[in-house]
Amino acid sequence: MDKNIIIKKAKKVLENNWMGHFTKPSPKLYPHQWSWDSGFIAIGYSHFDLKKAMTELNSLFKGQWKNGMLPHIVFHKPSNDYFPDAKDWEIDLSDEAPGDIQTSGITQPPIHATAVWNIYNNAEDKKDVLQFISNLFTKLLSSHRFLYNFRDVEDKGLVANIHPWETGIDNSPKWDMILKNIAIENINIPPFKRKDINFVSSEERPSDDAYLKFIYLIELFKQCKYDQKKICKESPFLVYDVLFNSILHKANLDLLKIAALLKEDTKEIEGWIERGKKAFEEILWCDKDSMYHSYDQAQHKTIRVHTASCALPIYASIPDKERVFNLKEQLLTTCPFHQENVCVSIPTYDKTQEGYDPANYWRGPIWVNTNWMIYKGLLSYGFEDLAGKIGLNTIRLISELGFWEYFSPTEKRGLGSNNFSWTASLLIDILYKEADYYENWFSGEVSKSI
Ligand code: GLC
Repeated sequence: MDKNIIIKKAKKVLENNWMGHFTKPSPKLYPHQWSWDSGFIAIGYSHFDLKKAMTELNSLFKGQWKNGMLPHIVFHKPSNDYFPDAKDWEIDLSDEAPGDIQTSGITQPPIHATAVWNIYNNAEDKKDVLQFISNLFTKLLSSHRFLYNFRDVEDKGLVANIHPWETGIDNSPKWDMILKNIAIENINIPPFKRKDINFVSSEERPSDDAYLKFIYLIELFKQCKYDQKKICKESPFLVYDVLFNSILHKANLDLLKIAALLKEDTKEIEGWIERGKKAFEEILWCDKDSMYHSYDQAQHKTIRVHTASCALPIYASIPDKERVFNLKEQLLTTCPFHQENVCVSIPTYDKTQEGYDPANYWRGPIWVNTNWMIYKGLLSYGFEDLAGKIGLNTIRLISELGFWEYFSPTEKRGLGSNNFSWTASLLIDILYKEADYYENWFSGEVSKSI
């Protein structure tokens, strides 16, 4: 295995998915610009093409709503390959929609301030990026403000998601109960045809019933004319998700650094951080299970489903070191796949639990972005040994199998779409960032720490 060859291949994946001013997540299955994908993608570009990294984020923010919401999809160019399409969202029902560009009507995990901070750090000449950062700062701030103004429904410092697609982990078993209990009533769902299964086997995708509920929720939001207050009252899906809030917390920490760099007022961001940290402890930490769980705000109950996101606050520097130690031990025992001496991966779901499926997305497979977040988190706490093993397995999976959207935890098999952009960009980040460690590994030497 040659490090330079893998990096070259990763860059080629991104180049092939580049659409002139943004990067689509994959060649066929996802033909538009997705919000958190673009954040991960910009982090990869920041190591070798700053211009593309900045263009990627600028293009995404073109879709920002007047109320600050950064939509989960921006439809820059028409495509027949994806449902629901721009017209299905009918965002002009809302005065808050951007007007001159088509987007979806919901949001996705806010990784963007983190991407911007990476762009700043990785730029050799900071002057090249300062103007971009200063232009984007107000937009970033207003995207976080949107979340606190409209989704911190109990004013506790946590932000609620109204649709599984907002959480990024659409098909997670965490949402099974809520989706199952949704009664389709008082809403006319126009007949629709899924397009995802034209490109990927249906055994790797959500069930038809889950899809029906996804579309039902969109119809409900349209009925509410995308009025956030109304939606939060009426939506049967209203959750404080651990993964979303961890990404937001980390993004707040990075936004704070950006604000300080630009000599902007930091008080508001500090307030979010302080309240968020407290709310993680009070609402999301579960003493019984010794892990973090998402919370169903509509039903007022904890969602006690063990997924990889139960440990994700590690990425956001939320727990103290002792708790991180215990969480990482749990990750290894509840998710014991690929647990060889040199390589470890984090599957999305514990195989002993109900609803586990090693081929279906977010229900068991390994994703490079969850590996990456846990990897980064462990590094920040100094758990370099386990972090190194996760990094190595990520590299190994990709070099042996390709740039898949996700990977089976039990067989040597890539799943979902091949040539997936964030798989490529996060691999680039790992190989550039901790270059010396992996250099040694590629050349056959085992170095003790990263
Ligand atoms: C899938 C994933 C979502 C991602 C999108 C585009 O829907 O669940 O997280 O943003 O694909 O890659």
